[in-house]
Amino acid sequence: MKFFIDTANLDQIREAQDLGILDGVTTNPSLMAKEGITGTDQVLAHYKAICDIVDGDVSAEVISTDYEGMLREAEVLAAIDEKIVVKVPMIKDGIKAINFLSQNGVKTNCTLVFTPGQAILAAKAGATYISPFIGRLDDISQNGLELIASMSQIFAIQGYESQILAASVRSPLHIVKCAEIGANVITAPLSAILALLNHPLTDSGLAKFLEDHKKASGQ
Ligand code: G3P
Repeated sequence: MKFFIDTANLDQIREAQDLGILDGVTTNPSLMAKEGITGTDQVLAHYKAICDIVDGDVSAEVISTDYEGMLREAEVLAAIDEKIVVKVPMIKDGIKAINFLSQNGVKTNCTLVFTPGQAILAAKAGATYISPFIGRLDDISQNGLELIASMSQIFAIQGYESQILAASVRSPLHIVKCAEIGANVITAPLSAILALLNHPLTDSGLAKFLEDHKKASGQ
């Protein structure tokens, strides 16, 4: 399972890249706004800065909601760097755009997927990645992980080639469960990725090892 970081924060991207476990980055307009990145030039430059840090795919989202507008934006975004994946919302024009882009060699990420039916449409359109938002389903008392399980089953049976990119991942348990049920990729905030490191028995065990070593060597 690939690990993507879900942020537009360059320091956090560098930290995850330095850890050696990073396979890519996802962003969205909200994450860009959170970093104070506004205006087309600034946005494009920021995507380039992200591409220069990370070894792997970088999702950059269109803000148009019509087919022609999405294709115009996709052309500009894809020209930034070969790592760019054009992120397109799960709407009717988005499916048309994904179909066109995939047939023309542009990598795509279909975002805002909340049902298996939406995922099937995105796979049929040829999306490179499909992003089910599991945390936002949990937020409304639906089990987001069940969507990942359903997609895994459908994609295996149907032989769909799109990668299941679990998004809106909020916790280390989400990450572990996604690995168990067959997500191809998770995208998560740095905090959820780093939380995988933690266990109190690791901390107390290490403290004891170091203490025993110190005693044995008469320090
Ligand atoms: O990748 C989608 C993600 O950014 C949404 O996460 O936590 O805002 O639901 P969240």
